[in-house]
Formats: sequence, structure tokens, C-alpha cells
Amino acid sequence: METIDFPVGHGWISQALVKVNRFFILSERGRDMIEKLMDCFREQFGGDGDIRAYFAPGRVNLIGEHTDYNGGHVFPCALSMGNYAVARKRGDKKLRWFNMTYPDNGVKERDITSLEPNDNGLWYDYQHGVIWAFQKHGYEIPCGYDMVMAGDIPAGAGLSASASIEELCAVILKDLFSLDISMVECAKMGQYSENHYNGMNCGIMDQFASAMGKKDNAIFLDTATLEYEYVPLNLKNEKIVITNSKVKHQLAGSAYNDRRRESEQALKDLQQAVGIASLGELDEAGFEQYKAAIKDPVCLKRARHAVLENQRTIRAVESLRAGNTADFGKLMNESHVSLRDDYEVSCKELDILTEEAWKLPGVIGSRMTGGGFGGCTVSIVENGAVEDFQKAVGSAYTERTGLVPDFYIADAAEGARKLY
Ligand code: GLA
Repeated sequence: METIDFPVGHGWISQALVKVNRFFILSERGRDMIEKLMDCFREQFGGDGDIRAYFAPGRVNLIGEHTDYNGGHVFPCALSMGNYAVARKRGDKKLRWFNMTYPDNGVKERDITSLEPNDNGLWYDYQHGVIWAFQKHGYEIPCGYDMVMAGDIPAGAGLSASASIEELCAVILKDLFSLDISMVECAKMGQYSENHYNGMNCGIMDQFASAMGKKDNAIFLDTATLEYEYVPLNLKNEKIVITNSKVKHQLAGSAYNDRRRESEQALKDLQQAVGIASLGELDEAGFEQYKAAIKDPVCLKRARHAVLENQRTIRAVESLRAGNTADFGKLMNESHVSLRDDYEVSCKELDILTEEAWKLPGVIGSRMTGGGFGGCTVSIVENGAVEDFQKAVGSAYTERTGLVPDFYIADAAEGARKLY
């Protein structure tokens, strides 16, 4: 991508943005954000030299939940919300950064030659993890960098704020050090770092969506092969509404790893009866034929979800391609029930949000999205019903839980990138 040198001085940022907009589409919100980051960067680190700007989005998954580590399909799209950074190479091995979301922490510093895995789960651990993963895979990171970052995506809401930090870091490394790495590899580096540096056994969906997002499209990804197709979200009469329950239950991380273990146990049992490499290789009929091989009843439920959710995802994408949004919505509802009853990753608040949504006219489908145990639901709502949806779901949720949800209209957006 093209790099543009900016004059330093009064009004330089607006000149920069006029130029930038000839090459890249930057939303109003993005423009404000970069302007603030640049001001902060100049204040903290000085305004000389080659300072570059980057963005990486969060994601919402439309259907295909807890299938990505079971060799199944997922169907997420990248969002226009995410994390922004401005960065400049240093001459030594130091990494210095300032996060505008946590200004009281001041400028932090770290040597990039002494990064050690940990499971603290702090935002900068995700950044360190990616640098560590690149190094482990033989990519040369010759020096550190100064960076200011900020995000407009709610953290801990199941919209992959952490994957967005990982992919932000991956594009910074790729660009600043001219590394020959594809965006699919950047997604893999993000997952590797989360699995091996941060101790979270996640699949590839979040990082893939953040790295590979495409405007107005969702990504139909086969996680067994990483083959993917972009599917246009031609929703002329409907909107994708995300509802943030504003809760995140403590057990999320450990329960996620438990689900993964239980699915793996079910697969091992099934492999005594049938030659499959992942649960994603079975369809409904195959599952019925071999399910007796699964010894533990909990593992049986987990496997049933993984198999049927994968089949639902394939059918949902067919429905969408055929312009049959109603079927897509029904499959979303079934997905929620399966996540609630078989996979047991929903929670009271997410069930209330979906129940209230299902009651309303104009709601095509609604389900929890992401890892679960709190976070968000995703709903397809007819254009004319969106306002009532927010009012009705919002007030019922507050009445039943005492909490006030947030609503966002999702627009499927481009993946992680250099802005200039
Ligand atoms: C989290 C993980 C993903 C995926 C989802 C559930 O977001 O990071 O890899 O497993 O949960 O679908």
C-alpha cells in the first residue's frame, strides 16, 4: 500500500486525511479516532518520522457457533468497530505504547526479546503474544516500535475485541517490517498466540474474520481446510442488530476450554466406530448412526450440537444465497436453542434477550453470538421494526434483569489493514 508523508504543523492531520481518503475509505468515526491518536502520539513520542495508521475490526458471527475447533463451518462478518493504532519504528528492541482507553496507565515499555507466555489476559498480552508468535515462526522483527492505540469496540462483549488487537498487531508487524506474510497467515498467527501465549484454546474464526473481512459480505469458512467464500449480505429489507447484554460471566474462559475438551472426547469415542478426523465430517444421518459410541452423556450433547450446528450453517448459507431470509432466521433460532440446551454456553441474560426478540413481529431470527456466557445476541430485524425492537427488547430486558442493553446496527466491513 501507498505511504504518504505528511507535513508537520498546524492543520497537518486534516491535509493527511483528505489525501488518505482518495485511497482508503475511512468513516467519520475512524477519522476522528486517527486524529486523536495522532495528537496523542505527537505528545507522547514526538511527531517526526514515518508514523503510520492501522485498523483491525471486531466481528459478529451470524451462525456456526463452537464449530470452528470441531472442523465445521462458520459464517462471521467483520464489523466497522474495532481497534485503531498509529505506530513508528524504533532503533532498538523496545516496544513502547500508550492506550488511550486506559490513559492512567501512561506509557508502558517492554523489550521484544524477552516475551513470556502468561494467562493474564490484559490487552497488551494479546499484542505481546502476536510478536512472540511471529518470532516463533521465524519472522524477523528487527526492532521495536512506538504505538498509540484506542478502540471503539466494547471489550468483553463477545465481539472479538481481543482478536482485533491481535490482527492490529499482525498488520503493524507485516507493514512496518515489510514481512512477506498473507492475511490468512496473520489470522493463524493470532490464533497461535492466543492458544500458546494467552492460554485460550480458541478456534480460528475471530482472527480470520478480523483479518479477512470484506465490506457488505460475510465469510463462509470451512475451518477444516480454511477454504472460504465471501457471501454478499444482500439484506435490502432487514438489518443485522447486535444487542449487548452487558454481562460477562466469570467462567467464560475455563468453560470454553472444557467444551473443547468434551468435544474432543466425543470425537475420540466416535473414532472407535467411524473413520473421521473431526465432528464436522458427520451429517445428521451419520451422527444418528454412530452416536452410541459416545460414552458420556454430556459429551454426546456437545457432539450433537457441533454436528447439527455445522449442518445448520451450511443450510443457512444456502438459504441466504437463495434469498430466503426467513429460513436463515429459523436456523438462527435453532442455533440458539442448541447452544442453550446441548452446548450449554448461553446464560439467563442471553436467553431473555432472544426470548423477547422471538416474540416480536419483524424479527426474522435471533441468537447468542460468540463464545457465550454473556456478551451479545445477533438478530435479523426488518427495517421498519428496528426501532420497536430496541424499545421492546430493551425495556423487557431491563424489567427482567435490571440491566440496560446496548444496541448496534452491524455493517459488514473490511478486514485489518494499513490506513496510511
Ligand atoms: C470464541 C472463540 C472462537 C469460537 C467462538 C464460538 O469467540 O474465540 O474461536 O470458538 O467463541 O463460536
